[in-house]
Amino acid sequence: MRATCGYPSASTRLLPGPGPKKTMLVSTGAEAVENAIKIARAYTKRPAIIAFEDAFHGRTYMALALTSKTHPYKAGFEPFPSDVYRIPYAYCYRCSYSKTYPSCDVFCARHLEDTFKRVVAAESVAAVIVEPILGEGGFVIPPAGFYPALTEICRKHGILVIADEIQTGFARAGAMFASTRLGLEPDLVTMAKSLTGGLPLAAVTGRSAVMDAPGIGGLGGTFAGSPGCLRGGARRLGLDREGKSLQPRRPPRRDVPKTCQRLAGKMGSHWRGPRHGRHAGP
Ligand SMILES: Cc1ncc(COP(=O)(O)O)c(C=O)c1O
Repeated sequence: MRATCGYPSASTRLLPGPGPKKTMLVSTGAEAVENAIKIARAYTKRPAIIAFEDAFHGRTYMALALTSKTHPYKAGFEPFPSDVYRIPYAYCYRCSYSKTYPSCDVFCARHLEDTFKRVVAAESVAAVIVEPILGEGGFVIPPAGFYPALTEICRKHGILVIADEIQTGFARAGAMFASTRLGLEPDLVTMAKSLTGGLPLAAVTGRSAVMDAPGIGGLGGTFAGSPGCLRGGARRLGLDREGKSLQPRRPPRRDVPKTCQRLAGKMGSHWRGPRHGRHAGP
């Protein structure tokens, strides 16, 4: 299909990282995730996928296998596709390794080498899939240095990095893609949601060599990149054919704790302290 209203060229150009890229269009976020995994496996000819604790990647079977939370997403729907391995996310506030940033030297990323020794061999791993900022799992932003370290280890072992930008992408995190802000240069990116802002359109963009790995007819779908969604979405975002008019929204404010304290002051005796967190409960 050639009448794509600039979506493939826009997402392809805007994506971080050097070299030529390609985009495929599908209808839902979960479908984009499924296809990203198929592409990664076809390119690397390896079976295993590493996903993170607290991750959410959708409700179809492979996406559910990658999703972490049991209730309400997974429980009762077992069994899931195999060869998915899970590691802790970079969550400094509740560090799974009881370390403290920055003296930890992003141990959570470096621990991947340990996973390769004790859980799954690096040469069996096709990809690590990660939400650049955790979404359903609690809006967690990894510390500086996490993604460069993670990417370096993956590159060393020929493992692809898939950024699931379905929730963070298209200017929801202060840049067109959260990956750009956080020093993540993915091989494949999944996007949906704000790609059109309401219409069923999703995409996978990646390095051309990777995207070309599946055989002809291996990827696609009846309604993939349907003209109505492309046209409606392009109009809504004010996208021209080249995607030139897309502008990132204002970056997120850094002074949220201060604002909360100010609001707490205003609330006076009604304020009963933080209910969550390390000192006040689960
Ligand atoms: C990070 C992430 N990945 C995948 C999905 C699945 O997208 P969809 O609901 O369009 O299948 C979502 C949806 O919330 C998401 O937030």
